[in-house]
Amino acid sequence: MSQTTIFEVMSGLCRELGAINLGQGFPDMEEPPEVIGAAQRALVERSNQYPPMRGLPELRGAVAGMYGVSAAEVIVTSGATEALASAILALVRPGDEVICVQPLYDAYLPLVARAGGVARLVNLRPPAWSLDLDELAEAITDKTRLIILNTPNNPTGTVLDRATLEGIGALAQRHGIYVLSDEVWEATVLDGSKPLSVLDIPSLRERSVKVGSAGKIFSLTGWKIGWAVAAPELAERVAASHQFITFTTPTPLQWAVAEGLALGEAWFAAHRARYVESKARLVSGLTQAGFCVLPCAGTWFVTVDLAASGLPAQDELLAQRLVREAGVGSIPVSAFYADRPERGYLRLCHAKRGETLDQAVERLAGFRAGFV
Ligand SMILES: Cc1ncc(COP(=O)(O)O)c(C=O)c1O
Repeated sequence: MSQTTIFEVMSGLCRELGAINLGQGFPDMEEPPEVIGAAQRALVERSNQYPPMRGLPELRGAVAGMYGVSAAEVIVTSGATEALASAILALVRPGDEVICVQPLYDAYLPLVARAGGVARLVNLRPPAWSLDLDELAEAITDKTRLIILNTPNNPTGTVLDRATLEGIGALAQRHGIYVLSDEVWEATVLDGSKPLSVLDIPSLRERSVKVGSAGKIFSLTGWKIGWAVAAPELAERVAASHQFITFTTPTPLQWAVAEGLALGEAWFAAHRARYVESKARLVSGLTQAGFCVLPCAGTWFVTVDLAASGLPAQDELLAQRLVREAGVGSIPVSAFYADRPERGYLRLCHAKRGETLDQAVERLAGFRAGFV
């Protein structure tokens, strides 16, 4: 639990070795000047003192407007990670079981353990990385308190469809289970479609907490502005927990995100277009170089099937060799598992400038061609 995350380890190695970092998920493109400008103005013209505990009314209103919910259902947090922590600490009691779906974001398991919960793991199945409802149902016991979902999923980029979400809703209703849905990648579905949320599914609406992140929406990962959205009674409990974790979240950045969310669909479409381009560039480069890239609807990542690319299905070894020998950082997908990991896939971040991606592809192609 005290282990350093793979993202930190790989970014550290990239810095030390001067490698191109396609490991950790952060963009190296121009940061949105409209939103940066709003933050600069907010620092000078607005308050730098404590905002209300649940967030600035302007930001809560903007988030509520985006999702078609009431502002009373929105709690602004210090990144999605704090929303996850607040929800898990609010809902999970010692001895409760929490179903987590692998591959999973690395914060879930330590947070469940910290709440005294016991994680039960189910797996998405490659290559489509789909969730098997029967497997999920089998993992439910009379101690199950919470199911944690992540859609679109990091690292695989898959989105849960209506039938699956409704199936989860039926199970959750039948067994009296809460659902925590990590939807931080919601704005990154590159065909422009809006992925379904737990907020859209009637059977899940009253028993779910949805988590979002401005860091992902605006490509400003260091801002750490997120939110939890839930029906009023649940929101109350999440707020009570948030109150004694960070209490509030930096005021000027909340102003800036509220302004950013009002930028309008044309702005968001143009912002998304950068990632459509970066993904296409990385995927076509890798494919031409003989790598097998799995389909992926959203996030800033693609996954490479190592065996289908003519490489050994040993993702950790490959990630180490790639960063040291080819000078490209990646993340082994097995790092997103606590047990029975899939070892045959590497995650690469495409949210980079064209020249960075071209250079990375050249290095990866050379590594593959000369692989022994
Ligand atoms: C699935 C998932 N959840 C949560 C987060 C964290 O979001 P934030 O930086 O807003 O805390 C990330 C960041 O990569 C993520 O991939």
